[in-house]
Amino acid sequence: MPVPKSCRAEAAELRQEIAEHNYRYYVLDAPTVTDQAYDRLFRRLQELEREYPELASADSPTQRVGSAPASHFETVTHEVAMLSLDNAFEEEEMLAFDRRLRERLDHEAPLAYCAEPKLDGLAISLLYEKGELVRAATRGDGRNGENITANARTLASIPLRLRGDSPPGRIEVRGEVYMELAGFRELNRSQQQSGGKVFANPRNAAAGSLRLLDSRITASRPLTFCSYGIGLYQGSDLPQSQYRQMRYLRDIGLPISRQIELLDSIDACLDYYRRMLQMRDGLGFDIDGVVFKLDDSRLQHQAGFVARAPRWAIAYKFPAQEVMTRLLDVDFQVGRTGALTPVARLDPVAVGGVMVSNATLHNMDEILRKDIRIGDVVIVRRAGDVIPEVVAPVIERRKGKPALPSMPARCPVCDSEVFQQPGQAAYRCTGGLICRAQRKEGIKHFASRKAMDIEGLGDKLVEQMVEQEIIGSVADLYGLTLEQLSGLERMAEKSARNLLDALEKSKRTTLARFIYALGVREVGESTAEALAGHFGNLDQVMNADLETLQQVEDVGPVVAENIRHFFDQQSNREIVARLIAAGIHWPAIEASRAAQTLAGKTYVITGTLDGYSRDQAAKLLKARGARISSSVSAKTSAVIAGENPGSKLGKAQALGVEILDQAAFEELVGGAS
Ligand code: IVH
Repeated sequence: MPVPKSCRAEAAELRQEIAEHNYRYYVLDAPTVTDQAYDRLFRRLQELEREYPELASADSPTQRVGSAPASHFETVTHEVAMLSLDNAFEEEEMLAFDRRLRERLDHEAPLAYCAEPKLDGLAISLLYEKGELVRAATRGDGRNGENITANARTLASIPLRLRGDSPPGRIEVRGEVYMELAGFRELNRSQQQSGGKVFANPRNAAAGSLRLLDSRITASRPLTFCSYGIGLYQGSDLPQSQYRQMRYLRDIGLPISRQIELLDSIDACLDYYRRMLQMRDGLGFDIDGVVFKLDDSRLQHQAGFVARAPRWAIAYKFPAQEVMTRLLDVDFQVGRTGALTPVARLDPVAVGGVMVSNATLHNMDEILRKDIRIGDVVIVRRAGDVIPEVVAPVIERRKGKPALPSMPARCPVCDSEVFQQPGQAAYRCTGGLICRAQRKEGIKHFASRKAMDIEGLGDKLVEQMVEQEIIGSVADLYGLTLEQLSGLERMAEKSARNLLDALEKSKRTTLARFIYALGVREVGESTAEALAGHFGNLDQVMNADLETLQQVEDVGPVVAENIRHFFDQQSNREIVARLIAAGIHWPAIEASRAAQTLAGKTYVITGTLDGYSRDQAAKLLKARGARISSSVSAKTSAVIAGENPGSKLGKAQALGVEILDQAAFEELVGGAS
């Protein structure tokens, strides 16, 4: 079928528009459309290309889904070698580097450097000819790498075509492919669930994902690209400054570091290093140092190379975030909900500049999966603001057959039985409120900032008061006296008075905070807020049945069960009653619970509804008492069909089930709330 002119023009326009949005998102960090609006453009283009396959050009943004697996990677010989970097670990080495350079270049004045983070991923090269991406290769040994074009094409941050009307004849862009921490954690979670390979760190995950023979899998991995230099170049003159070359790359559509800076002296470099070290934990991706490059290209050329590294650049490394140390023992810590968490006791070691002697081992399954044994040399990692964890044992350094840690049969704190709920990784102490550890954690949680916000009631104090049996539960907090408090260690009368004031102040709260403070398993702040908003008062929350609870946003069967279980305990009800009697109160709120106009009905949703995600639409229906099903049957009350409905629509028609469009859906859920 010939492609109508209008469709051809529309596809070209969509492609242009999508490329522009990609540029704004990945390169400028300043998107101008919502994800939904972007998805709409994307889906429309896919639709056109499905209808007229000849419209699907290789540089179309829809072609990033990967292709059938290759049998191997071809070797690519880099025309311009991909060099490595010299390292510095101390200020002194940085000063020596600068001194050497100034001597060699006979340059007395301070030298200007272009600075950016050293990303912890893997180096690749992207070759563009007349603006089109024609080849991507790994660094390999610097001379020969692997052709990974099919994989690189799946990264949304790698432009398939450069921006602008006069792209250079040939340009080879170099940069790092890496994985952000959030994506890395999510990937490992899903790998673990599906029994796939779990990666030790984001670097390995990035390397493993980029070197898959099946680019369709690469397409599903959260990889990012950031450019840091130009290799081969044939085109009109480039700026003779590293910094301006990077700006040029950004202008032609390539992502560059947000942290890139042009610095006027080595002192400014040292200051930059300190600033980046401070920012490190908040970046959201691993960096292992900063890289400084002489800014002036002519001077770079004059300085030249030694062995495999340029004389004009250096990596100033940060303290390692992954180190090796010995696992001395494994203890079990009891949390607020009774879960026993294995904690590694380590030979103290500095990780990322902080001394670490404890690290989490997550749970027993992890220990077994990673085969971590007491006495092993282990790799410990501390990244971002997360707690240090044991990544893996170093098997090569294991001697003999050391023992695996074992879960104690009884709680190490209260000696109650330890129980593993079928289908759950966690083992729990069955002691409940008789377990001191659970009580302590429960009280700490109750007092915490997002809960009752009791200023001055810190962890140490709670521990002391529980140990000395001054308090047994949160309900005892509001009966504390000045006398009791002043008798405590490191508690002057003034701080005791302040604490009593803080307790008094905390009585005025909100229903959501109070529900959160009670510490029902899996009821976080947002669920507590949803419960408060939905029911409007505490009695209703405490007495709601499982079905009613599940009408609340983010409350599924498990959380509903937890809530019901919590309030079914007589001891918990008593604590709540005592707290209220002590004077805890909150402003009344209107319940937002909708009338149950759709009780007993079952709906199926297909296609996309404008302005509502599938989940949002389902919640709105459920809030009115409806059930949502994923398949159409004769029992279905109606099928709600948005744009691009799937096969469910046909099935509904075949079964004679009522079909509702967007307007009818809005009428169902509108007005009633
Ligand atoms: S420049 C001639 N800049 O570090 C300069 N490298 O140790 C060669 N890396 O293979 C590299 N971030 O994988 C440069 N901002 C950055 C970098 C960076 C990470 C990696 C890259 C390279 C290795 C050299």
